[in-house]
Amino acid sequence: MTADEHRDIVEIICAKRDRQALTDRDIAWLLDAYVRGEVADEQVSALLMAIVLNGLSARELATWTASMIESGERLDLSSLSRPTVDKHSTGGVGDKVSLILAPLVAACGAAVPQLSGRGLGHTGGTLDKLESIPGWRASLTNREILEQLESVGCVICAAGAELAPADRKLYALRDVTGTVESIPLIAASIMSKKIAEGTSSLVLDVKVGSGAFMKHRDQARELAATMVRLGHDHAVRTVAVLTEMDVPLGLAAGNALEVTESLEVLGGKGPADVVEVTVTLANEMLELAGITGEDPAARLADGSAMRVYRQMIEAQGGDPDVAMPTASIVRTVDAERDGVVHRVDALAVGVAAWRLGAGRARKEDVVSATAGVLLRKRPGDAVARGEPLLELHTEDESSIPRARATLEGAFSILDDPFEPKALVLERVAS
Ligand code: URA
Repeated sequence: MTADEHRDIVEIICAKRDRQALTDRDIAWLLDAYVRGEVADEQVSALLMAIVLNGLSARELATWTASMIESGERLDLSSLSRPTVDKHSTGGVGDKVSLILAPLVAACGAAVPQLSGRGLGHTGGTLDKLESIPGWRASLTNREILEQLESVGCVICAAGAELAPADRKLYALRDVTGTVESIPLIAASIMSKKIAEGTSSLVLDVKVGSGAFMKHRDQARELAATMVRLGHDHAVRTVAVLTEMDVPLGLAAGNALEVTESLEVLGGKGPADVVEVTVTLANEMLELAGITGEDPAARLADGSAMRVYRQMIEAQGGDPDVAMPTASIVRTVDAERDGVVHRVDALAVGVAAWRLGAGRARKEDVVSATAGVLLRKRPGDAVARGEPLLELHTEDESSIPRARATLEGAFSILDDPFEPKALVLERVAS
């Protein structure tokens, strides 16, 4: 076989099954052929499972990611007058940080192109959250994205179909074939989209814990280092921060509920953990963007981040003054004993919010704007028997029993004093 030739798809599957390396030509051909519909879903499924089991070497991963980027267009943001910097979270429960961070970092002088996705499973999607604002539009043309980045400084919108289409197809397939949980596949999926989006720098929030993809810190560190390396290879300055996701972030999990909580933080208040993660990531973004002398906490306190948020919502057709919709049915889950709350399991809260209607099981499902979970107690809070631990919000009474069942055992209430855990765990840079 010459350097220009590739193996056929069955040979490629067998090679990965037998732990042999794929060539650059194999990978480039395969991803291109898959996007063109020349290779069948079942064949790519088999290959993905072989990759989940046997991994990809650093060279294979670099080629895989480059081929995914080349499968579509690359946005050119070089005409912008401000430095570009984006943030991506690997996904968690109650993670509304993007809604606050994009306008906050824009208020400090950067341009933030947040091309986002919708939620799947128990982790919410940024676009679903913003779509709970009546009139707000997630789909923008490339021209609108550029204009808004110049005039407002930030945009949160859907990644167009032309951006890394190989990932769109692969992600949908991975989702239904048990092949999401692979460090190289997750790294290639995230980084191909972020590199294609055209940002010059990127901060990754890699979540660790029960409510995250990465349940253990060493896995999260490996994913972070893998993505930082890919960013570096493509001239995107990239830093990752590992943050805790055993407990939901803030008090709200659900679309409109999270927008409301984000507005509290943008108003200079809101839960301390949301503020801490947001300000930590903002400082990392400003450093990568080369912006000095700005204090993100001060920009939250003085209302400038809120002003940019309002401009961003208005520019995309939303009314920033509209009252957020609220659920018609609200029930509580109450404490069964007195004590101090030690644990609120993020996964259980995320799944409960999803069952109440906040998330989707299939891509085509419609999400409820108002459904979700609002915590009334967090770790460290004292509680008396019969007091509400959390509220269940929904439009569908029949979803309540399943949400309650999910939350059984989600709270640990003990007599011992509570020792808080660190929220920001470590930083990974190249
Ligand atoms: N988010 C992505 O965009 N891709 C993955 O594979 C996992 C999380």
